[in-house]
Amino acid sequence: MKYEGLDFPQVVEELADRYGVALTQQGQNSENIAKNKSEKEILYKINQLTARFYYDTLNSPEGQRGMDYLKHRNINHDMIREAILGFAPSAGKSLLQHLQQKKAPLDLAEKLGLIRKGQRGDYYDFFRDRVMCSIVSAEGKVLGFSGRALSDEVQPKYLNSPESPIYHKSHSLLGMQTAKAVIREKDQVILVEGNFDMIRLQQEGIRHVVAPLGTALTEQQIRYLSRLSENFILIFDGDAAGQKASARALELFLPLGILPRVVILPSGEDPDSFVRKEGVEALQNKISNSVLLLDYWIEQILSERLASDSKTGQGPQAQAKAIRKVGELLELVPGEIEKVYIYKGLRKGMACQ
Ligand code: CTP
Ligand code: MN
Repeated sequence: MKYEGLDFPQVVEELADRYGVALTQQGQNSENIAKNKSEKEILYKINQLTARFYYDTLNSPEGQRGMDYLKHRNINHDMIREAILGFAPSAGKSLLQHLQQKKAPLDLAEKLGLIRKGQRGDYYDFFRDRVMCSIVSAEGKVLGFSGRALSDEVQPKYLNSPESPIYHKSHSLLGMQTAKAVIREKDQVILVEGNFDMIRLQQEGIRHVVAPLGTALTEQQIRYLSRLSENFILIFDGDAAGQKASARALELFLPLGILPRVVILPSGEDPDSFVRKEGVEALQNKISNSVLLLDYWIEQILSERLASDSKTGQGPQAQAKAIRKVGELLELVPGEIEKVYIYKGLRKGMACQ
């Protein structure tokens, strides 16, 4: 469990797989299990075929527009290969035809959200005219896809695989296939918000970075990563959305007894744009100087209090509100020692002002 960073049922399944032991589960007969298991294997195979198809298309004349897009964003060939990036053609039935040719069961391809049925009951490709990121597990299995539109006029900007028997977005993280070993080696994990933030940082040599997909960070993702390292660095945009995301993240981390660090970027920048403008060393610097997210928030709460003091003159009320807010954070923390730590931080912050 420790070595692979998996939980008990996952390890049991993995070992049973490896040594050919048939598992039986309460409430399910073994026939059902065998059926589910082989269906899952076929689903992985179809995704693998599809990732290969998108990748090959990107590297063919048909994928020129996708390749131009990636060149424009400064993504190099090594990174394209490593992240298994690709291109989904605009024609509408290209993947469908490829899967037919490979004799893939189309009902299962539909289950994966790769093809859909039109009104006349015929299949068409779900992802069209998009740069494709493969969502790959730490073990190298292709779980699903996230497709970026080529221009900002096309909505939605990202189109992601729907939930399927092998893809659960609240559990999955983009970049895991590269990051997992490095997270363990460095005993640190960096979390960013966007697909291209992860790709940019990995390309620039910060390889222990992952991103949640099409969702805010979840508790399952944190639990999974914390088995590899508890030293989290979160990098958020300096805008209101980034602030909100960091507050939400704190509420997830505190009950787990984990104190993540945070890097706040200048307003309007994400990790990708920041590194392109300022260079990777500038970000490394910020990572080295990152502060505890908790301290950051206590400071935010206290400086809000000061701001409202001078604006409204409601000193005691604003102060009480601030203390109550910190108290709410305090309640989320399971350990007494940690609670004392926050209290001290609060006292220190108040004394400074
Ligand atoms: N996202 C999504 N669906 C959308 C918009 C965003 O699933 N319609 C997810 C993607 O995983 C995206 C992440 O949320 O990477 C962050 O969104 P955003 O900050 O808008 O995008 P960027 O990653 O900065 O995208 P880009 O740099 O390509 O513009
Ligand atoms: Mn971006």
